[in-house]
Amino acid sequence: MKVLLTGGAGYIGSHTCIELLNAGHEAVIVDNYSNSKPEALNRIREISGKDFTFYEADCCDKTAVEKIFAENKIDAVIHFAGLKAVGESVQIPLAYYRNNLDSTLTLLEVMPKYGCNKFVFSSSATVYGVPKEVPLVEGMPTGCTSPYGWTKYMIEQILTDASVANPDLSVVLLRYFNPIGAHESGRIGEDPNGIPNNLMPFITQVAIGKRPELGVFGNDYPTPDGTCVRDYIHVVDLAIGHVKAIEFADKNKGTEIFNLGTGIGYSVLDVIHAFEKANNLKLNYSFKPRRAGDVPECYANAEKALKGLGWKAERNLEDMCRDSWNWQKNNPNGLN
Ligand code: NAD
Ligand code: WQD
Repeated sequence: MKVLLTGGAGYIGSHTCIELLNAGHEAVIVDNYSNSKPEALNRIREISGKDFTFYEADCCDKTAVEKIFAENKIDAVIHFAGLKAVGESVQIPLAYYRNNLDSTLTLLEVMPKYGCNKFVFSSSATVYGVPKEVPLVEGMPTGCTSPYGWTKYMIEQILTDASVANPDLSVVLLRYFNPIGAHESGRIGEDPNGIPNNLMPFITQVAIGKRPELGVFGNDYPTPDGTCVRDYIHVVDLAIGHVKAIEFADKNKGTEIFNLGTGIGYSVLDVIHAFEKANNLKLNYSFKPRRAGDVPECYANAEKALKGLGWKAERNLEDMCRDSWNWQKNNPNGLN
């Protein structure tokens, strides 16, 4: 299939592009570089040994999106493009609603004109809100705690409604848990701007000496060691999940939701200790107050993806810690 990856220069999109090319699909990427760099595209070509078409454009720009569809016979869209920082979304909610919703609506309006009816969406475990029980199953109640989360929630609804109205449309909603790790080559990985919000990029920046210390947000949660528990998933496993998802969309109509997680919960201290062990180094950390909005435990029941997509995560926490560090130490300044 020829697949359009919106936001394909970003962290998850770039890893997915490699797996799609490896699986024999063709790729077209559109990105406005609002949170990525052109060098990511060179690295994708280098790792895969394959080429793809690229457009520098905003997915909210209908004229630009029309041009991409007019110039390429796109079979499926994987919509990664979006703003994703939870804290920032509280500060500038309208920018999040505008960018994330408008880009989705624009794609949905253009696709049918060009006979494209397969849509895979980057949703998030954040749509489960404050979980009443874990592991999380796809049918459990949803509800969000940030404008970012609400954009995912609303887009899930928009896509579901669109697939009801258009029986030709296939929608796969992928709820990612906590993607970390990097390509094993060490040539692409997560490259956050400024101070990282997320745990693993913060850890690697402490390890490389860019930041003096990691603050562990809260050690009085009702969890085995008092720190929060999450379902960390290797970004390459996640990328492979997208290849399975477009193949699923090719054979099924309507909307289907899949958790993409490992099904295993690890605490913040588990991650710190695994990182130290995998890479034979010591991390400077101390306990800090809880971070607003964090839930004690969030991990997936990953059985539906196994049954429906024939996919399960193969890489473990040690692999994630090793590959994250390999990427950081080989690229101390990211893709700059
Ligand atoms: P990322 O920021 O690295 O990638 C997103 C890419 O989209 C960037 O390259 C950015 O420049 C581009 N982009 C943003 N708005 C655009 C627009 N209007 N037009 C064109 N390009 C645009 O983020 P990521 O971690 O790769 O996440 C990809 C998707 O997965 C996002 O939708 C995110 O919300 C979702 N997601 C991420 C995580 C995570 O922890 N990384 C978890 C769950 C869901
Ligand atoms: C993980 C754990 C922190 C940083 C976020 C989004 C979610 C999804 C994935 C997009 C938590 C702790 C972190 C630090 C710490 N993204 N932590 N010190 O919050 O589970 O999920 O990314 O959809 O929507 O909310 O991930 O990596 O920020 O935090 O102690 O410096 O690490 O408190 O327990 P989170 P995270």
